[in-house]
Amino acid sequence: RRVAILISGRGSNMVSLIEAARAGAFPAEIALVVSNRPDAAGLDRAREAGIATCVIDHKAHPTREDFEHAMDAALASRGIAFICLAGFMRVLTDWFVERWAGRMINIHPSLLPLYRGTHTHRRALADGVLVHGCTVHFVVPELDAGPIIAQAAVPVVPGDTEESLATRVIVQEHRLYPQALRMICDGTARLETGRVVFSRPW
Ligand code: GRF
Repeated sequence: RRVAILISGRGSNMVSLIEAARAGAFPAEIALVVSNRPDAAGLDRAREAGIATCVIDHKAHPTREDFEHAMDAALASRGIAFICLAGFMRVLTDWFVERWAGRMINIHPSLLPLYRGTHTHRRALADGVLVHGCTVHFVVPELDAGPIIAQAAVPVVPGDTEESLATRVIVQEHRLYPQALRMICDGTARLETGRVVFSRPW
């Protein structure tokens, strides 16, 4: 299974996926990293890891559709079967999302359906929740609303700041995302009529 990772920034989740896929007995190969930003720090980290990279600058495309057609062509030309969004900061059109339905996943830094969108750690602290975390889900047209594949929870502790909470959550993101990618690549988790079907009960 050839997998592409789409990034816009530092790419720490991307690195965790690359490392997991190389650790052996993984049902997927990270075959491509695509960034919509030429200056994304993650691009250098992907190159260092010897992964093919490709910049598709949204600013160089007149419309969202145009940008996405360029991305889709790059993915098709490399025989990509699955997409992982990892800090990819462009909203995708219904066309692109439908095209990759059941084959595109995202990691989000909250326990969805709580805290869709941005500033999740700040909002969790403001609400005084005592449990927070991260979620991997299939991508659907509505932002951060797709069927859930895997979640990890962390405690919120007295004195936490946005940064300390983010640090606690990202450790779990790096563990969770490879697990979820494995599940969709080996068929353990599949999207069927809008729901996730797990082939092994636990
Ligand atoms: C992560 O917190 C992820 O959950 C969110 O964006 C951030 C990306 O970080 N979608 P990185 O680029 O993987 O380091």
